[in-house]
Amino acid sequence: MNYTTLGKSGLKVSELCLGTMGFGTEAGWGSEERESFEILDRFAESGGNFLDTANIYKLGTSEKIIGNYFQQESVDRDYFVLATKYSLKDNETNPNASGNNRKNLMRSVEGSLKRLKTDFIDLLYLHIWDDLTPIEEIMRGLDDLVSQGKVNYIAISDTPAWIVAKGNTYAELMGWSKFVALQVEYSLLARTPERDLIPMAKHFGLTLAPWAPLAGGALTGKYLAGDNGRIKEGSKRLNDRSIAITKEVVAIAEELGVSAANVALQWTRQQGIKTIPIVGATKVKQLQENLKVISLILSEENIQRLNAVSQIELGFPGEFFAEEGVKKNNFGGFYERIQK
Ligand SMILES: NC(=O)c1ccc[n+]([C@@H]2O[C@H](COP(=O)([O-])OP(=O)(O)OC[C@H]3O[C@@H](n4cnc5c(N)ncnc54)[C@H](OP(=O)(O)O)[C@@H]3O)[C@@H](O)[C@H]2O)c1
Repeated sequence: MNYTTLGKSGLKVSELCLGTMGFGTEAGWGSEERESFEILDRFAESGGNFLDTANIYKLGTSEKIIGNYFQQESVDRDYFVLATKYSLKDNETNPNASGNNRKNLMRSVEGSLKRLKTDFIDLLYLHIWDDLTPIEEIMRGLDDLVSQGKVNYIAISDTPAWIVAKGNTYAELMGWSKFVALQVEYSLLARTPERDLIPMAKHFGLTLAPWAPLAGGALTGKYLAGDNGRIKEGSKRLNDRSIAITKEVVAIAEELGVSAANVALQWTRQQGIKTIPIVGATKVKQLQENLKVISLILSEENIQRLNAVSQIELGFPGEFFAEEGVKKNNFGGFYERIQK
């Protein structure tokens, strides 16, 4: 396992992050505590230190399992870089027990600390934009948590690029903590973050943390035979386009003698931006398979084949700046000679 620094911070994280949304068996899928502990053990033994959870995963069970794991004498909590999130509801009757507001932020973090049985969170994400709370309120609240020592670093997920850009710029002007990472759904089946979110992340030096890099398992090819597993009937992850993309992933994997999961994961890591995919696994075997990605490098030709089959329209104005658009727009012929 190699390590990298998260965003523009000095925090050292493993090149893969372990997604723990499947810790707990609520909603009819996921791993029991014992198997979750084993997944955590294997991940740590391989050098992995970066964990991703959220207050809402399995209605708190994911955080509780991690908290119980930390309680074991053989486990050093401090070894791990623990990320959790706030925003999504954990109470049906309290209008402020969800959303991005400061009251929920403070309340949610206290709940997470209790379930996680720790007194600090290494990285706190805003989970999803609520389209209500002023970004200034959010940045101030996050920075207060950092000042209080309850949170070390902050990050953001599932939010429009312009909001993230405004928040980061505001924090910079105020001398507050800035975001170090951006979580987006990003995989060969979900490339729309290439329009605005990824260029924004590059500009601000945010580490990209793709969630569902295997499209919930679809890109492993295991559903090509017909069974849907935990993917809902009618999901776009299993439509004709997705199946065509998955077949190309499987074909390349067979040529290279590696798993389709490894090809799909590695594609996210070769997109010209510092990227740490959040690898979900509900079985030890899956984790072991996925960890092999660290020794895979895809050739330019393989990347091009994968890009071609999964291509999306950048739309306006992105297409003006893409390679073809730049040629057509002709900025006096100089554009191609500028090294960006
Ligand atoms: N910020 C957000 O809004 C957001 C949203 C979703 C997820 N996340 C984070 O991202 C993480 C990953 O998300 P995800 O679980 O949807 O991602 P994923 O990596 O696309 O899918 C993981 C699932 O794929 C299957 N799988 C994994 N490795 C496999 C292998 N080698 N062979 C066969 N099947 C394999 C397993 O499905 P089965 O369990 O069915 O076997 C596993 O649960 C989550 O744990 C969470 O931490 C964040």
